Amino acid sequence: MEKREELYSGKAKSVYATDDPDLLILLFRNDTSAFDGRKIEQLDRKGMVNNKFNAFIMQKLEAAGIPTHFQALLSDQESSVKRLEMIPVECVVRNIAAGSICRRLGVKEGMDLDPPTFEFFLKDDALHDPMINEYHINSFGWATPDQVDKMKKLTFQVNDVLKRLFMDGGMLLVDYKLEFGVFRGQVILGDEFTPDGCRLWDKDTREKLDKDRFRQNLGNVVQSYEVVGRRLGLTFD
Ligand code: TMP
Ligand code: ASP
Repeated sequence: MEKREELYSGKAKSVYATDDPDLLILLFRNDTSAFDGRKIEQLDRKGMVNNKFNAFIMQKLEAAGIPTHFQALLSDQESSVKRLEMIPVECVVRNIAAGSICRRLGVKEGMDLDPPTFEFFLKDDALHDPMINEYHINSFGWATPDQVDKMKKLTFQVNDVLKRLFMDGGMLLVDYKLEFGVFRGQVILGDEFTPDGCRLWDKDTREKLDKDRFRQNLGNVVQSYEVVGRRLGLTFD
């Protein structure tokens, strides 16, 4: 497979075409952004750590029967993936209250959410990723009702797999965001699963080990991502 032109550059990853029309290359950069791109910094090693972390998680999800776009690790910062038609919607499951739900609903960070909540957000930084519901998705034609059902089902399946995986490493999966796309008519998991797009706390101390360290200026951002990886059995060098 040959790398071709850059198709798209996001806040933390760049996407390249290849000589295979069904495959893309994702480049995980060191750029780290928060607050819809208003805070951006380059963090050493982050691209490499997130690329390897994402590959590990995607392979665990595939092994559990969840279809993903992931194909192969190509280099420290690159992976190949299936080329999806992306659905411009973010799927968020929360097991514990943190972040925007605390601001929106006035609940205290750390409250257990049982059963877990599910929320859709529109992927649109200029609009600050507003929360939307299934009716918006249908009315605006962002996805069909069947695709919406599939995204919800897969997002909860991911919760079952990853809650257990992180708990085995002594961590709580507080919340996470997934994005899906369509490949030959099938809804499959796209984008990434890394500590950039989820919240992970130490199960005993509740120390934050995810991108909240960057958002809240807590320091040791990439070091914490590496701690998470090592607790799952990953090595980065
Ligand atoms: P929130 O608390 O800001 O709504 O985010 C919930 C989780 O989803 C959190 O782990 C961060 C992740 N997320 C993203 O990574 N990108 C996004 O655009 C949104 C809305 C959430
Ligand atoms: N909305 C995501 C976050 O706050 C990404 C971003 O804002 O750049 O983490």
